[in-house]
Amino acid sequence: MMQKKTIEQLIIHGGKRVTGQVTIAGSKNASLPIIAATILSETPSRLSHIPRLLDTTAMLEALCSLGCSICVNEDLSVTIDSKPCTSSSLNKSVAKKLRGSFLLLGPLLARFQKAQIPLPGGCQIGARPVDIHLKGLKKMGAYIEVQGGIVHAHCPNRLRGTEINLDVPSVTGTENLIMAASLAEGVTVLRNAAQEPEVVNLCEYINTMGGKIRGAGTDTIEIRGVSSLQGCPFDIIFDRLEAGTYMIAAAISQGSVHIHNINPDHLSCVIDKLRLCGAIIDITNDSLTLKMSGKPRAVDISTSGYPGFPTDLQAQWLTLNCIAEGQACIQENIFEQRFMHAVQLKKMGANLTIGENRVVTTGNDTLMGTDIVASDIRASAGLILAGLAAQGTTRI
Ligand code: EPU
Repeated sequence: MMQKKTIEQLIIHGGKRVTGQVTIAGSKNASLPIIAATILSETPSRLSHIPRLLDTTAMLEALCSLGCSICVNEDLSVTIDSKPCTSSSLNKSVAKKLRGSFLLLGPLLARFQKAQIPLPGGCQIGARPVDIHLKGLKKMGAYIEVQGGIVHAHCPNRLRGTEINLDVPSVTGTENLIMAASLAEGVTVLRNAAQEPEVVNLCEYINTMGGKIRGAGTDTIEIRGVSSLQGCPFDIIFDRLEAGTYMIAAAISQGSVHIHNINPDHLSCVIDKLRLCGAIIDITNDSLTLKMSGKPRAVDISTSGYPGFPTDLQAQWLTLNCIAEGQACIQENIFEQRFMHAVQLKKMGANLTIGENRVVTTGNDTLMGTDIVASDIRASAGLILAGLAAQGTTRI
């Protein structure tokens, strides 16, 4: 297993151009549900391109704690055998390491007809309720009670296929319900489902195991339950958010990057916005090159579910708008508290106005290195980009 390593402080000497080439790692947000979905099968799966991050390590630890056997192969693919998984109850100390552990609810309930999973709770970017997950599972026949911060779920027989209209297209909500429905009796139809590439990748994995899912990538997903699934080798998609972060880094610093191992279709909205900023972008089937000569122009964005502008690139874009030419507005529509980085940018000299769910920048800011604090993973990415663009030294 990979060792936990805590980086307490990042020190960035600013004023450098981001130039070069980079191979993008596997997607974090595709890996987490796919690791959880290995519970659905009693034969091993060999997963390639799981990124080496604390979150993926914590998810693998969560599976170990349930009895699964995990082996990291020489090529760094990970073989997970969930046959020895005997427990359907996740310990609080394991669960609190990552919100993604809630993705174990659907597969455990589908396989064992019972599951006990601690509630993930709120976090730095908002309240993040799980009512959509629970409502959907109840509609499939599960009995669910929440006691002492733990979700206790059980169903007397297999879950039953049904029609579920999601109140909002929750990404992990859609994923939990897809996993639960894969081993349910009959057909489940999810309406207003999330359309993210990570959801599609999960469905591809389940279908490769023998599942019967149609419509992934649209807002209506049909899952025909099967009685068993067979583990298989599977490639996790590359991380569109990591790629987007490098692209924005190059645009901010008037640099150039060649990015390998991506599906440019997953970045269409970000590519369009970066072109409006003045970036020259050349695309092939699985790579792209971005060059930025001169200062970028500030561009408005409004976050939404895929294929819209991802909330997970909002912090990075805010840094771009701060140093760019002209005024612009960022509207955050997914999470209610996702502007903690904006306050830190102000400390670096950014001229911006923070409203309830929007930030207006005046542009042309000269950022100055100083001591700042990062909250979540994406705020950290945005602030690292600010440190790169700033004069002097930034300590995050
Ligand atoms: N929501 C509800 N009820 C629910 C679930 C969600 O009201 O039961 C609301 C949330 O409060 C939020 C909106 O629906 O306002 C969307 O949240 P969603 O459930 O889609 O978010 P998530 O599934 O918890 C995943 C990613 C996030 C990413 C969001 C949005 C994973 C493990 N996490 O979270 O990734 O920001 O979708 O795309 O896939 C990150 O990687 O930094 C990250 C936070």
